Amino acid sequence: MLKCQNLTKSSGTLTILNNLSFDLKPGVITAVIGPSGSGKTTLLRCLSQLEKPDSGTIDFAGQNLSHLAAGEVGFVFQAFHLFPHLTVLENLTLAPLSQGSPRVETEERAYALLHQFGLEEKDTAYPANLSGGQKQRVAIARALMKDPPILLFDEPTSALDPEMVKDVGEIILAVKNPQRVTILVTHEMRLAQAVADHVLFLDHGIMLDDLPAKQFFDKDDNTLLSKRAQRFLSNLT
Ligand SMILES: Nc1ncnc2c1ncn2[C@@H]1O[C@H](COP(=O)(O)OP(=O)(O)OP(=O)(O)O)[C@@H](O)[C@H]1O
Ligand SMILES: [Mg+2]
Repeated sequence: MLKCQNLTKSSGTLTILNNLSFDLKPGVITAVIGPSGSGKTTLLRCLSQLEKPDSGTIDFAGQNLSHLAAGEVGFVFQAFHLFPHLTVLENLTLAPLSQGSPRVETEERAYALLHQFGLEEKDTAYPANLSGGQKQRVAIARALMKDPPILLFDEPTSALDPEMVKDVGEIILAVKNPQRVTILVTHEMRLAQAVADHVLFLDHGIMLDDLPAKQFFDKDDNTLLSKRAQRFLSNLT
């Protein structure tokens, strides 16, 4: 269980995250939805310890999140962030090897993931020679190298052809794991509807909705939704 309590983050006079509290269960995919600038990426950066909240606590499995070692929070960045000077295989193995994982096991794990994602022929390719969808799959494979108990996706479709949305959804579902907390930030409501079990809706750093996806996306009954989320969804259609 990932438990955030009263998470707050500011920059100057701007409150980026405003007193957020929520619980996320393993095995559940949570979509974080909200307008641009609402704090979604900042929330993921706090959950991956790339950024420190000003106040509030983040606990995982009953202990402060900081007990998780590097690599135990998988992060799939919006623009992939692959290392251009490293091959696909090296992109996957660099972090685990530098953290002391044995080479043979690390490479076995990398090849198993490349095989799962249909990339086994691309082990020696460089990112520049991959399609956008292939880069995305390498980025996801890299985030999965240490079988992380927390997996974060930031806008995984925004740099891809619209036709790839379905593929990304299939990959996210294929790597769904009952032990793992998965969070997906997305502007793509088709993707959120296809994969998410739960939805958090943010606006100006405030959590306005914390609902099962079925209720969040229920076209026949939006009475449980905040007015802001109702307006957000209606502006998309
Ligand atoms: N390091 C930072 N320093 C100052 N302000 C920041 C920083 N990071 C984010 N912000 C501001 O915090 C707010 C939330 O940014 P964030 O990137 O988390 O939004 P977002 O919901 O991910 O938006 P988008 O949908 O456009 O990706 C914005 O107003 C942004 O300008
Ligand atoms: Mg963002």
